[in-house]
Amino acid sequence: MISIQHNVSLKEYNTFGIDAKAKYFISVSNKQELIEALKLPQFSEYFVLGGGSNMLITKDIDIPVLHIDFKGKVIGPTNLQGEIIVSIQAGENWHEFVLWCIENDYGGVENLSLIPGNVGTSPIQNIGAYGVELKDVFVDCRAIDIETQEEKIFSLEDCNFGYRNSIFKNEAKGKYIITSVAFQLTSKSHKLNTSYGAIQQELANNNITEPTIEDVSNAVIAIRQRKLPDPMEIGNSGSFFKNPVIPKAEFALLQEKFPNAPHYVVSDTEIKVPAGWLIEQCGFKGKRFGDAGVHKNQALVLVNYGNAKGEEILALAKKIQETVLEKFNIAIEAEVNVIG
Ligand code: EPU
Repeated sequence: MISIQHNVSLKEYNTFGIDAKAKYFISVSNKQELIEALKLPQFSEYFVLGGGSNMLITKDIDIPVLHIDFKGKVIGPTNLQGEIIVSIQAGENWHEFVLWCIENDYGGVENLSLIPGNVGTSPIQNIGAYGVELKDVFVDCRAIDIETQEEKIFSLEDCNFGYRNSIFKNEAKGKYIITSVAFQLTSKSHKLNTSYGAIQQELANNNITEPTIEDVSNAVIAIRQRKLPDPMEIGNSGSFFKNPVIPKAEFALLQEKFPNAPHYVVSDTEIKVPAGWLIEQCGFKGKRFGDAGVHKNQALVLVNYGNAKGEEILALAKKIQETVLEKFNIAIEAEVNVIG
């Protein structure tokens, strides 16, 4: 049986720590409860809440907030190559899932350590860090169609994953609720990805020459803890903006003025420029405006020092976008979902 709570503060349910209110709040922990909630005759629209780690709430929410709290893990058979499929319920915390993989010696997600949020929302933006993206280990996910309440399975191909992008941010946006995700992991002969300079450096500093998945996870945790604020201490949503991808010719012009501009080659014609660098060049790094601010160690991360309102963070984000556009003629887009 589901219950509808009224006027619930969402402060504990979003990693930015924004104190917005949900007029109606319904927590569901299995498929039956979810379907029951979707069939409530008084409501026609829902706000789906997972780990609340990739959203900025700028006002109270009047439509019912559906908190997806499905828990559980199913471990599939292992094949001869030592690959194993695990199916994880949407409400499991992402980092706890990663730690569980390390404990059980399942490889594949160690580079994605310490990413805030839940398993169920990980496919939406194809979470990624240190050379690995969710799509590299993704098998499929199950989702409920909000309108028909029927279950649909999305394969890797169906999801159309891109850089911080998927079908769930495009054609399927707002239409489905992901209930579980299946991953293909290695149970032996792990394929480590230590190509990222910061990981190599971290392993070398610890004199690790033959790293295990646990070593890689620990390296990522150490790097992230140095650069990124812990949402339990300072509200944030990780990278607030996406790194812009610009035509090579435009980058050449930028490089004339800023010969040391960091960049990654995306294709023959496109270059990705770290938004954190652009924002830092505009002088925002470490700046604080009331309780809203730009993190001191990573300018891509906006923070809530305590009681910032969603609108204040949004105003800061807009100011940053305008300044970057003015100085570099580059438009940077928000990565987090702005609600309101
Ligand atoms: N940089 C600066 N100033 C800053 C931040 C970065 O100059 O304040 C420059 C540095 O030169 C650095 C480069 O930008 O070498 C890249 O920085 P970093 O390695 O921190 O990575 P990023 O491109 O800023 C992306 C992801 C992060 C992910 C890291 C590591 C996006 C939007 N962000 O950040 O993801 O952890 O790479 O793989 O793609 C997240 O999505 O929430 C997130 C934290």
